[in-house]
Amino acid sequence: MMSFPQGFLWGGATAANQCEGAWDVDGRGPAESDVLTGGSVKSPRLVTYRMPDGTTGAVPKWQGVPEGARREVVDGYWYPNHDAIDFYHHYKEDIALFAEMGFKQYRMSISWSRIFPKGIEEEPNQAGLDFYRNVFLELKKYDIEPLVTMWHFDTPLYLDEELGGWKNRAILPYWDRYVRTILTEYKGLVKNWLTINEINNTIQFLGANKPASDEDFQRAYQHLHHQFLASAHAVKMAHEISDEYRVGCMICGVPHYPLTCDPADVLLTQRQMERCVFYCGDVQAKGKYPVYAQRLWDEHDVHVEMEPEDAQVLAEGAVDFYTFSYYMTTCDTTHEVTETAGGNMSFGAKNPYLKYSDWGWALDAMGLRYYLEMVYDRYEKPLMVVENGLGAFDTVEEDGSIHDPYRIDYMRAHIEEMGKAIDEGVDLIGYTSWGCIDVISAGTGEMRKRYGFIYVDRDDEGNGTFARSKKDSFYWYKKVIESNGSDLA
Ligand code: BG6
Repeated sequence: MMSFPQGFLWGGATAANQCEGAWDVDGRGPAESDVLTGGSVKSPRLVTYRMPDGTTGAVPKWQGVPEGARREVVDGYWYPNHDAIDFYHHYKEDIALFAEMGFKQYRMSISWSRIFPKGIEEEPNQAGLDFYRNVFLELKKYDIEPLVTMWHFDTPLYLDEELGGWKNRAILPYWDRYVRTILTEYKGLVKNWLTINEINNTIQFLGANKPASDEDFQRAYQHLHHQFLASAHAVKMAHEISDEYRVGCMICGVPHYPLTCDPADVLLTQRQMERCVFYCGDVQAKGKYPVYAQRLWDEHDVHVEMEPEDAQVLAEGAVDFYTFSYYMTTCDTTHEVTETAGGNMSFGAKNPYLKYSDWGWALDAMGLRYYLEMVYDRYEKPLMVVENGLGAFDTVEEDGSIHDPYRIDYMRAHIEEMGKAIDEGVDLIGYTSWGCIDVISAGTGEMRKRYGFIYVDRDDEGNGTFARSKKDSFYWYKKVIESNGSDLA
């Protein structure tokens, strides 16, 4: 028996930097995502920079630019986020398509540097404010609730370069100004907000590409402490500004499994879950650091600098609901591994019971139910799955149709598992599949890694008309929403 509650928030999700384009239009300032080149599953995205002597270069993002370099847009590189899918000029058409599918909710993000181009201005950029107001008004026309992420991988580049971004506590007053501005400006148009997208990535992927030193851990935990404060400030401001506002956290939900039943593997897995997933969710949903935090810090001789009032700030800034992305699971073991998962952003031992996507991500629908039940039990707060989907190659047939049964199969299996979790008593209130319209991949910068129900005519060399067309999954998802999740055929 599958029973999605009345009013379940079906919809789709995007992020400003991956869909808007118009990176330097109407006063927008450059953001972190604008200095990232295109990559692929085999070759990482690069960050481009200029040295004081004028020479330029590019390094994988995780490597970090050389001492003295400034990240900059450099001639001769391909920056896919600059144009993305040009949602900035197509939002009316796109929202009409979302409405045609019956969306109840659309998850999107605000680009901080569209509102405050450098991050430090006293006054916001009016054109940026107008753009999002128009988007919200367009959504309202179709009764689609926006779910708005305040930060989705795109700190204004200036703040990042001048202050060191989230590593520096001095970022907080600028963040507060940005958040207060959007919460005040969009009162009455938005109800649900998310603070920091996939906040746990900072710690979960640390050490994945190159061994991490104690200094790396120190930086990561300090960075997170500042983001926890930022998130707590946002929750508090939202509650002060409007009774209608509800604010959630956003966690990258990758459940860890022990590869074997060796107790050492089970213990390792528990610890990996604590570090990679629970650490952030616990602080944001419970409003305090968990007991095991001290052990995690001690392991790397970390001393998180905190002010005396911070504990109180975190306590007052616990989120109203918990959201997460769900794409895959991973396996941990203390034993020697012969096969690793080996995709982009997917690490650990290969699970012999699962199949993997073309990008090496484990396909595991049941893992979604496992995660839902585990986190509901832990927090007892309403949950939303705000990202889920299959990144895949799509083929446009001669008649323009796009047959994507693989995407439908993937989503059907995940939605079935959500239904079972609801039947078990989990208070799941919404689902926004990732990249409901094709967007630029965050991990690889590719266009050909497509998640959408709506196809966008654009390739990895920047060719294409940006024309939108409906894939088979478009009609399928429309039926799912119409039947409130009871018709998944
Ligand atoms: C999440 C992000 O990591 O996964 C999105 O919140 C991202 O921004 C999504 O696009 C899918 O990852 P990718 O690398 O396939 O785009």
